[in-house]
Amino acid sequence: MIDAREILVRCDALARESSDPNGIERVYLSPELAAVNRRAGEWMKEAGLTTWLDAAGNQRGRLEGREPGLPAVLLGSHLDTVPNAGRFDGILGVMLAIAVAERLRESAAELPFALEIAAFADEEGTRFGTALLGSRALAGTWDDAFWHLTDDNGTTLREAFVEFGLDPERIADASPKRGEIVAYLEAHIEQGPYLEEADLPLAVVSSIAGARRFALTLTGEAGHAGGVPFHRRHDALAGASEVVLAVEQLARSAGCVATVGRLQAFPGGVNVIPGRVEFSLDLRGETDAARDGVWLGIQAVASEVCDRRGLAFAVEETHNAPAVVADASLQDSIRAGIRTATGEQDPMVLFSKAGHDAMAVAELAPWAMLFIRNGHGGISHHPDETVTEADVAVALDAFEAAVRGLAASQTA
Ligand code: GLV
Ligand code: MN
Ligand code: MN
Repeated sequence: MIDAREILVRCDALARESSDPNGIERVYLSPELAAVNRRAGEWMKEAGLTTWLDAAGNQRGRLEGREPGLPAVLLGSHLDTVPNAGRFDGILGVMLAIAVAERLRESAAELPFALEIAAFADEEGTRFGTALLGSRALAGTWDDAFWHLTDDNGTTLREAFVEFGLDPERIADASPKRGEIVAYLEAHIEQGPYLEEADLPLAVVSSIAGARRFALTLTGEAGHAGGVPFHRRHDALAGASEVVLAVEQLARSAGCVATVGRLQAFPGGVNVIPGRVEFSLDLRGETDAARDGVWLGIQAVASEVCDRRGLAFAVEETHNAPAVVADASLQDSIRAGIRTATGEQDPMVLFSKAGHDAMAVAELAPWAMLFIRNGHGGISHHPDETVTEADVAVALDAFEAAVRGLAASQTA
């Protein structure tokens, strides 16, 4: 049986599939992703599932219930990563799902639903900017505009599909018909400090923040760092710096979070005034209205800065996912699972500011999530991401108990 130790060994094994020899990086439709899909597929088979790679490159598996062809409860998370990632974000949830399926295999003949697993291929959006491509394909919310997205090498998403051996014309095949998936459950590290602060291993997720991402460009005029006096300059980086500070201040005062994670100045010479700056913006809020209010404020500041400095301002929205609320009855299943595994009568409830595949699957089926404490203050999107074997063990028990509870409630 797959225990917590084996789950950690598997997370370590997948961490070695990386395009970065000095860290972990595994992006959508890359050779590294193909390698982890293969490993996860083998583990799914060993756990008794039938497996397939779906039309979007997600590794999928299925365990039939008491009769073939029943609607399924879907368990999942993702196998792609951010640059210089940790080894648990997404990956731990997939490994837990496989272990739960293995534990349920013996009693599958009594299950009132089939059990499916999705190892999603693009939650982070690292390669093409737009996140949740794998889970959007499964949810049936694929947008044909995605085909024109390009990576940093100018490869379009359509070309990347073909290079990976996928047929773009068949993308709709990734999505089950409505009613074929009756619930989605995802286990994930918390990526925040609250479980550690409360000295608790597990929490139930109430909702996930809506996120928007933008690519912003400020254009001024490049020129000689010595020759051009200040009153004649149109320095795009000085302007962008004002905008970046306003992003932090506006988000903070509205109780939202905002991050400029990437910024590039052109032409990039030490003695050249920056003529153009491109930067990213990731904006999240508990409500879409609060988040969108901050975005209006940021645009107003950017316009004012650009007018004053003689710069042009262009924006492209690369990602937009509304806030979603977890299904109340599935939250109860997770809560009951935590109670069974830990004895904690009133499990902690957390609102997630991190994005998850559940946001996309929400369009297809009701969902709920189990959060697992990650150490060092909940550090994530960082190589120091960590979990303990003891926490993984109770997470596995809780996730299994949640699925068994769901089966019992449907059988009753
Ligand atoms: C994914 O981890 C995100 O929240 O950006
Ligand atoms: Mn992540
Ligand atoms: Mn994640």
